[in-house]
Amino acid sequence: MRILIKNIRGLAGIYENPPALLRGAEMDRLPILENAFLAIENGRIALYGSMDDWGGITDWRNLEVIDADGRFVLPAFCDSHTHLVFAASRESEFEDRIKGLTYEEIAARGGGILNSAGRLRDMSEDELFDKAMVRLHQAVESGTGAMEIKSGYGLTTESEMKMLRVVKRLKEESKVAIKATFLGAHAIPAEFKSKRRAYIDLILEEMIPAVAEAGLADYIDAFCEVGYFSTDETMEIVERGAEYGLKSRIHVNQFNATGAIPKLVAAGAVSVDHLEVLGDGDAEALGGSNTIATALPLCSLFLGLPYTPLRELLSQNAAVALATDYNPGSAPSGNMAMAVALGCIKMKMTPAEAINAATLNGAAAIELADTHGTITPGKVANIIITEPCESLAFLPYSFGRPSIERVILG
Ligand code: NIG
Ligand code: FE
Repeated sequence: MRILIKNIRGLAGIYENPPALLRGAEMDRLPILENAFLAIENGRIALYGSMDDWGGITDWRNLEVIDADGRFVLPAFCDSHTHLVFAASRESEFEDRIKGLTYEEIAARGGGILNSAGRLRDMSEDELFDKAMVRLHQAVESGTGAMEIKSGYGLTTESEMKMLRVVKRLKEESKVAIKATFLGAHAIPAEFKSKRRAYIDLILEEMIPAVAEAGLADYIDAFCEVGYFSTDETMEIVERGAEYGLKSRIHVNQFNATGAIPKLVAAGAVSVDHLEVLGDGDAEALGGSNTIATALPLCSLFLGLPYTPLRELLSQNAAVALATDYNPGSAPSGNMAMAVALGCIKMKMTPAEAINAATLNGAAAIELADTHGTITPGKVANIIITEPCESLAFLPYSFGRPSIERVILG
């Protein structure tokens, strides 16, 4: 299969030798070639160049030609934080929050993550898969070409493994590049309420070995937050994960400054996610490291939380990514274009910074930057074609409305 996209108004994210990630001031640079063509062969990017110079293309047989007249082409989004596999939506909690309850209050009443865990345990693997696949297709329509998906609504060894097997099937049966994360430490399940240490031990002694030995996860995660898992418990989980070859990516500082960020950076976490609240020294620790700071603006919007102080992180030279956090409780949306828009509107990112955070740095946050996240010969041809527009800033500017016309994966 060969595709030639011609008359591209602006081809964004082009690199012959792409960087592994972008940090600080670098994030405002998004290389764009105007009046360009892009050739795709066997699912990979073959060649790009200026429309004034067709030199590279000599064989025109079996070539599908797309005229992008007036449109921009950019790398597909890499959504590095989702909980895509879940049993049911939770709009009754949404109504409770409208009436004044907080996310924490709803969780304390047995709603929240435990509500989702109860529903998931009762659902068959096939049904979970079918529901997740529908959501995956919706995410692709809004521009996503790579995705991280977590467990964490099982909270028993068997149900966590069930979720991760669903993720494996999604990976096998779609064109989206998928990474799997084990999140047994998402909440203390009801049956362990009066013996939380026993649940931590179950994670350490049974779940991590089982998940790792079955090859079902690439990463380990924990919800490091007051009322969920303490910094010490999180670090124990991180260390045990590392013993089993699982690098860490951690939910941290969603509601409180836990003090965990410098420790997670020192432990080599690939990414720390949420960061709605930063404590002293957190931005500095991230600025001097390769740990990616991942902001989840759809969660901030939906729960009415502060937005991650990205300008502060960027001024400390941190590498920043944007992701959706797609989940039924705090962000029921897989729309990366909306995350990009909120990056600009609420976190004062430039459109270039936000697009870089959602493409190259999103790929880096799931260690897929070698194959995804930029327009580079040899990389997987996962691309977005926009509507006709004047500049790429139109994408975040036209927020809440899909200005993406077509998505090509592989
Ligand atoms: O990233 N904060 C922890 N986990 C999810 C929410 C999970 C849920 O409410 O179901 C999050 O926001
Ligand atoms: Fe999350």
